[in-house]
Amino acid sequence: MKLNDIRNENCLDTMKLMDAAFVDLVVTSPPYDKMREYEGYSLERFEQIAVDLYRVMKNGGVVVWVIGDQTIKGNETGTSFRQALYFKEIGFNLFDTMIYLKPPRGAVGNNKTYWQSFEYMFVFSKGQPKTINLIKDRKNKEARKGDTGTKRLPDGSLLKLKREGYGNYGRRTNVWEYMIGNGHSASDKIAHKHPAIFPEQLAQDHILSWSKPGDLVYDPFLGSGTVALMAELNERNYIGSEINANYCKIAKERLQRSRESTRQLQLLEA
Ligand SMILES: C[S@@+](CC[C@H](N)C(=O)[O-])C[C@H]1O[C@@H](n2cnc3c(N)ncnc32)[C@H](O)[C@@H]1O
Repeated sequence: MKLNDIRNENCLDTMKLMDAAFVDLVVTSPPYDKMREYEGYSLERFEQIAVDLYRVMKNGGVVVWVIGDQTIKGNETGTSFRQALYFKEIGFNLFDTMIYLKPPRGAVGNNKTYWQSFEYMFVFSKGQPKTINLIKDRKNKEARKGDTGTKRLPDGSLLKLKREGYGNYGRRTNVWEYMIGNGHSASDKIAHKHPAIFPEQLAQDHILSWSKPGDLVYDPFLGSGTVALMAELNERNYIGSEINANYCKIAKERLQRSRESTRQLQLLEA
């Protein structure tokens, strides 16, 4: 199957063409509930998509599923949890339930509840993840160098002690906060022609955490192409499925624009 390709089709059709155990990492945000109609398309046949994802993932592969819930008449749908439990039922391991925190903007949800400002990022794995590169950018309040000492034992002998050091930065928490909207989510303006992008930085952080250069990253709901773009910039291969031809066009334009700016930078550096 052709790598580094954006396919204008239903992800179920793309996955039919994939061999079993083909994909290293999926980072995706499916359409959820009836939040947006995407010009007439909505998430159908979730269960078949989950089963197909299990088949195409390599052993140790990871699926990052970014999702929230719609509130209908004061009642949250709970789709996120139902889907997470279904992934577990069909064999995936729920490796981590992470939070994508965003500053509240505009009128979101119900004004009788606290302001809705997060989505879930469920991290599923087929077996235990084969690649884990935790990002260590949380400033450590107790940074200190390791040192050694001694302690006298009751028999008079000296026991050598080693005190562990802590670096200036420790691993992050599993709550990741991103500024969103114009000038924050994407490095270009084209992306915003899509109504529901997630931030480039979010896609990159998962790609760096759960894959290696040369791995294959798949996004079954590619939208404006964020995952393909960040995979390419981080030397991973990608495949993206997007059912809507207009969004495919946006994704291709974004990749094209990014390649042109990389070429210009290289020319400046030469
Ligand atoms: C939440 S958006 C993804 C946005 C993306 N993460 C980004 O940053 O641009 C979900 C996308 O899935 C697409 N979609 C819906 N059902 C699909 C299907 N069965 N196969 C492929 N794409 C589908 C929609 O057209 C929509 O663009």
